[in-house]
Amino acid sequence: MDWNRRKVFVTGGAGFLGSNLCHALAQRGARVVALDGFLFGGGANPRNLDGAEVDFVRGDIREIDLRPLAEGAAVIFNLAAQTSHMGGQADPLADIDINAVAQVRLIQAAREAAPDAIVVHASTRQFYGRVERLPVDETQPVAPPDANGVSKFAGEQYWMLEHRVRNRPVVSLRLTNCYGPRLRIRDARQTFLGIWIRCVLEGRPFEVWGGEQLRDMTYVDDVTAAFIAAAEAPACHGQIFNIGGSPPATLHDLAELMVKVSGGDGKYITKEFPADRARIDIGSYHADDTAFRTASGWRPEVGLEEGISRTLDWYRIRLGDYL
Ligand SMILES: NC(=O)c1ccc[n+]([C@@H]2O[C@H](COP(=O)([O-])OP(=O)(O)OC[C@H]3O[C@@H](n4cnc5c(N)ncnc54)[C@H](O)[C@@H]3O)[C@@H](O)[C@H]2O)c1
Repeated sequence: MDWNRRKVFVTGGAGFLGSNLCHALAQRGARVVALDGFLFGGGANPRNLDGAEVDFVRGDIREIDLRPLAEGAAVIFNLAAQTSHMGGQADPLADIDINAVAQVRLIQAAREAAPDAIVVHASTRQFYGRVERLPVDETQPVAPPDANGVSKFAGEQYWMLEHRVRNRPVVSLRLTNCYGPRLRIRDARQTFLGIWIRCVLEGRPFEVWGGEQLRDMTYVDDVTAAFIAAAEAPACHGQIFNIGGSPPATLHDLAELMVKVSGGDGKYITKEFPADRARIDIGSYHADDTAFRTASGWRPEVGLEEGISRTLDWYRIRLGDYL
């Protein structure tokens, strides 16, 4: 697809994944309109869009008139979400408002303002819950372990319905744990790796909860490439895909790698998984993303060691902006 001068609309554009995507689209010459409400506790950071040629609008998808923003867009990348699992448990109504009700607002706005736009929706592996079989392909049953999983599943399903009923080209990407530059590292709200990075760079030990759970981390440039590939490949349209990343590693493996990559500065301690989180924890997960690879030609390029190294280097000189 020739992105040059094409209008794209990115929701959640000041967040971790959204801002990285905005940078990549702007570099391809696209006219990027980014919306973000700087939701408390989310990944939005004012520095995330530094240096990107993006038309940024601060506003809430629950309230703002979405039509002028979506007007004439060739592609809508839909990443705005309440992403906190504990947050969703604490306030499930706000969670539904953003992840489900506001999705229907955007669907209605897009019908009027961008009836032909391709939509790439950011979905999550979270709602598979505790899985019976690894790796996880798209046929595994959905069993959301928390309120956030329910609302994210509802949001995805409204988008897929829009494909079935109106024939809109919609692709939903069920992402696994993503990491890299522009991740929220102030605390563990976005992912455990965020706070690990902060601790390593501050010379403090980080905590590993449990340690034997498997994860297949995706480096953010690979996530960005997946979003773009999903829009570009007609074979993806109308489909839901799991997106994986690096080969599965236990949290202990990841912690060891973090220590190694940091040049021995990093230290960690292992703790019991906290009881309140254990109730909604998904255990081990890694994706079978064969379907997406086949349909789009995408494959992850950045290995874990390289990805962690790039991430630490990126934050080393920007730590103050992200605390
Ligand atoms: N990062 C991951 O590991 C991961 C894994 C699975 C799925 N996802 C999905 O990818 C998408 C992006 O996630 P992320 O990690 O970049 O999180 P993020 O918190 O950094 O980005 C989401 C952005 O949406 C914005 N937002 C939230 N509610 C809003 C509202 N009502 N109006 C306007 N903006 C609002 C937030 O301010 C934030 O900037 C989400 O849909 C998330 O569910 C991410």
